[in-house]
Amino acid sequence: MRTQVGIVGAGPAGLLLSHLLHLQGIDSVILEARTRDYVQHRIRAGLMEHDSAALLRDAGVGARMDREGLVHEGIVLRFGGRSHRIPLAELSGGKTVMIYGQHEVVKDLIAARLAAGTPILFEASDVSVHDVATATPSIRFRHDGRDHTLACDIIAGCDGFHGICRPSLPAGHLSVFDRGYPFGWLGILAEVAPSNDELVYASHDNGFALLTMRSPTVSRLYLQCAPDEDVGAWSDDRIWAELQTRLADRDGFVLKEGPITQKGVTAMRSFVVEPMRAGRLFLLGDAAHIVPPTGAKGMNLAFSDVAILARALTAWYRTGNSDGLEAYSETALRRAWKAERFSWWMTSLLHKFDRHTPFERRLQQAELDYVTTSRAAATTLAENYVGLPLI
Ligand code: FAD
Ligand code: DHB
Repeated sequence: MRTQVGIVGAGPAGLLLSHLLHLQGIDSVILEARTRDYVQHRIRAGLMEHDSAALLRDAGVGARMDREGLVHEGIVLRFGGRSHRIPLAELSGGKTVMIYGQHEVVKDLIAARLAAGTPILFEASDVSVHDVATATPSIRFRHDGRDHTLACDIIAGCDGFHGICRPSLPAGHLSVFDRGYPFGWLGILAEVAPSNDELVYASHDNGFALLTMRSPTVSRLYLQCAPDEDVGAWSDDRIWAELQTRLADRDGFVLKEGPITQKGVTAMRSFVVEPMRAGRLFLLGDAAHIVPPTGAKGMNLAFSDVAILARALTAWYRTGNSDGLEAYSETALRRAWKAERFSWWMTSLLHKFDRHTPFERRLQQAELDYVTTSRAAATTLAENYVGLPLI
C-alpha cells in the first residue's frame, strides 16, 4: 500500500489535514485506532476561534456548522457575585467565536473524506512508524486481521496525547515542557436550554465553574474538582447544587436544570514538545502539545498546526521547495506557545488554588477587576480568545 502522506489519527487534526491536502491534489491515507462511531461521539471541544471556523468554511466543510453552530460576540466573567461582559467582537475588530461540537466537526470531516474516496482505516491496531530519518518512511499496522505496510513520503502524527508517534521519536531528540495543575474539571452535558446566551466563566471561593452549550437545547457545564475526582461521588443533585452556588450572581441569574446525559472528569495539563518534527515525521495537535481547557484552545491549536503543515506540503509537492517543511516546527511552536500562555493565564486567573496565600488571592481578584474594567486588558483577552492568526 502506498500514499503521499500517511496520517495516524482521525481526530480533528488528522481529518482536516487530509481534507486540505486533498483540495491541493495530495493523497493521504488515515489510520485510526477506534471505530467510526466512537470518534464521532467523543464529547470534547465545543468552541472554535474565528479563523478556525473560517478555515472550515473556506475548505467547503462549514455548511452544517454555519446552519447549526452558534455565533458568540462576547463572554461573561463572573466573580464576587457580579457579571462582567467582555465584548469580544467590539474589542477585536468584529471577530466572533463559534459554538459547534468537536464531534460534529469530526462527523462533517469524515463524511467529506469518505465522499472523496480517501481511505480511513478505522480499528487499525499495532500501528508503528519506521524509517522516518529516510526519504522512504513507512507505517506498519494490523487491519481486518492482516498485517500491512503503508509506504509514504511523509508521516503526519495526529494521534493525540496518548498516541504512538511522539514516543517513536529517537530518545534525546525531544525537549519536553510539562506543567500540572492541582485540579481537574468535572464536565456534564444536560438536556436543558442554556441559561445564558453567552458563555459564563465564574471564579468562586468554592472553585471555578463554566457554563457553555452545544445547541439551543443542550447545555455543557464544568466544575473545578480534584484532579483524581471520583465521578461516582457526584450525584446529579450534588452537581446542580454546586453549579447553583458557583454560578449565582446578585443580579438575578437563574441556572436552569435538566437531565444530565453525560459526566466525565478531565485532568488539566500544559505540555509541549520541541521540535514538532523528526525527519519525515511531523507532529500535529495534541500529539505535540496540550493546554488546560480554560479558554478552549486545544482543537484550535490543532487546526493551526494543520494549516501550517498543509501549506508547507503544498509548496513542497508543487515546486520541490522545502523551506516551509524546514520551518514547520518553529512556525507551529511560535503559535503554540502563545496559546499555551493564554490557556495558562486564563486558568490561573479563574481557578481556586489551595496553595494561594491571602496575598496571592488578592492579586487574582485585582487582576479580575483589572481585566473587566480596563479596555486595554479586556482587548488583550479578546484578541487571544477569538484567536490569533492561524499562520
Ligand atoms: P485527538 O482528538 O486526540 O485525536 C487523535 C486521534 O488519534 C484519536 O481519534 C485517537 O483515537 C487516534 N489514535 C490514538 N492513538 C492511535 C494509534 N496508536 N493509532 C491510530 N490512531 C490513534 N479544544 C478547543 O479548541 N476548544 C474547546 O472548547 C475544548 N474543550 C475541551 C474540553 C474537554 C473536556 C477536553 C478533554 C478537551 C477540550 N479541548 C478543547 C481540546 C481538544 O479536544 C483537543 O485539543 C483536540 O481533540 C485535539 O485534536 P487532535 O486531532 O490533535 O487529537
Ligand atoms: C468549552 C470548553 C472550554 O474549555 C471553554 O473555555 C469554552 C467552551 C466547551 O466545551 O464548550
